[in-house]
Amino acid sequence: MLKLNHVTVKRGSQTILNNISAELKSQHITTLIGPNGAGKTTLLKLLTKELAPHAGEVTGLPAKVALLAQHNELFEPLTVRELFALTNQSLDMDIIKRLSLTHLLDQPMPTLSGGQQQLAWLGFVLQQQPTLIILDEPTTYLDLQYQQLFLETLQTLQAERQFTVLMVLHDLSQAFAYSDQIWLLNKDGMLFTGDTSKMADVNQLSQAFNTALQLVTVNQKRFFTTK
Ligand SMILES: Nc1ncnc2c1ncn2[C@@H]1O[C@H](COP(=O)(O)OP(=O)(O)OP(=O)(O)O)[C@@H](O)[C@H]1O
Ligand SMILES: [Mg+2]
Repeated sequence: MLKLNHVTVKRGSQTILNNISAELKSQHITTLIGPNGAGKTTLLKLLTKELAPHAGEVTGLPAKVALLAQHNELFEPLTVRELFALTNQSLDMDIIKRLSLTHLLDQPMPTLSGGQQQLAWLGFVLQQQPTLIILDEPTTYLDLQYQQLFLETLQTLQAERQFTVLMVLHDLSQAFAYSDQIWLLNKDGMLFTGDTSKMADVNQLSQAFNTALQLVTVNQKRFFTTK
């Protein structure tokens, strides 16, 4: 079980994460939300060991962690098939089919559209068979159809294969629709965690994002909009 125990991270004189404690729910989807610059990517970097805390500790990190970063680049124009082969696992055709990549397998990554590339990167992450998948704003450059395909495929495969997901999303409606747990990081570097129904608190969210928000529920789905 992955835990953050009284973790503090500073950048210069600025405290980015301020004595935060949390437990990541294994085999569930947790989405980390919070305003720009709050420290979401910094928190993820603790889990990929790119950063070490100044105080406190991270315990229970699984051995197989896969990351889909905010920006992904290839040093060579590999095809989708060649990208997947980097994992040294036999090609998982189930993943390929679910992500609609079958007809693109032998195309070089740079010749795919941005949306197709992002689906290929998700496939690459899944192909590594990780216990924990970390995704930093994975749908930012995708249109609505690709956002839905991306998040629904991730959710379906998570339910089937039971890996743990921690992702950052900026769209609050999507964060609440696709997650079991929400982690809310505010500008003061404080973290609030809980299941989605507990965290769907417009006052707390409005305060964190410094914007008056309202919550509309349609067919049991929550939509957050500005007032
Ligand atoms: N390499 C760095 N050196 C110094 N300060 C940094 C560095 N990376 C990030 N910061 C600072 O740490 C703070 C948190 O940055 P971080 O990237 O974690 O925010 P974020 O919540 O991911 O924001 P966004 O939503 O814009 O991606 C910011 O004030 C940023 O300027
Ligand atoms: Mg970030």
